Amino acid sequence: MNQYIISTSILSADFARLGEEIGAVEWAGADWIHVDVMDGHFVPNLTMGPFIVETCRRITKLPLDVHLMMEEPERYLEAFAKAGASNLTVHVETCPDLRGTLKQIKSLGCKAGVVLNPATPVGEINHVLGEADLVLVMSVNPGYSGQSFMPETIAKVAEVRTKLDALRSSAWLEVDGGIDLETLPLMKEAGATAFVAATAVFKHPQGPPAGVRTLRSLL
Ligand code: DX5
Ligand code: ZN
Repeated sequence: MNQYIISTSILSADFARLGEEIGAVEWAGADWIHVDVMDGHFVPNLTMGPFIVETCRRITKLPLDVHLMMEEPERYLEAFAKAGASNLTVHVETCPDLRGTLKQIKSLGCKAGVVLNPATPVGEINHVLGEADLVLVMSVNPGYSGQSFMPETIAKVAEVRTKLDALRSSAWLEVDGGIDLETLPLMKEAGATAFVAATAVFKHPQGPPAGVRTLRSLL
């Protein structure tokens, strides 16, 4: 496993050619495939479910980094695990029993991730920082790819980094939203170790492999 992870979000892929798109980023050295699950309630957009995860599982050997932007994610964890998810990341804003939900994810054999919206303070996840395998800090309001990076989230990444280090946690610190060749170095400097990118990869003018290589060259 690389020291730094590039997790390519298929939200900006051409779904008519999903197999080729995933094959291209895998060939170029992407580490994870990021699947953005949106329910039309927690976020305005409606996207993919376990069926797409199962499809990706057949296309690639890369870990599937499944980001659950949905209310009541615990109702679907088993379905996503069975479909082949590797990481299941839930929003603190949707989980009244966050510790229990992370435990449920681990019992299904997946890595347990927790994610914070830009407006949610880091303190909201203090009680689970020692248990999370991955902490994701959103750098846009979730819902769509192609949005502008929010610079105020850099300080949040630094705050999470300090807390994880104090706990001697080896959890991945992931960032998601507006990550490109300008913002990735800022987030790396703040302490992020995993970088989600949709537009910067799948909409790269020279194609997805060039997008992956450009980001990798910064790590
Ligand atoms: C946003 C999603 C992101 C999105 C990132 O709600 O969680 O994963 O695909 O897209 P870009 O990289 O274009 O900001
Ligand atoms: Zn995402």
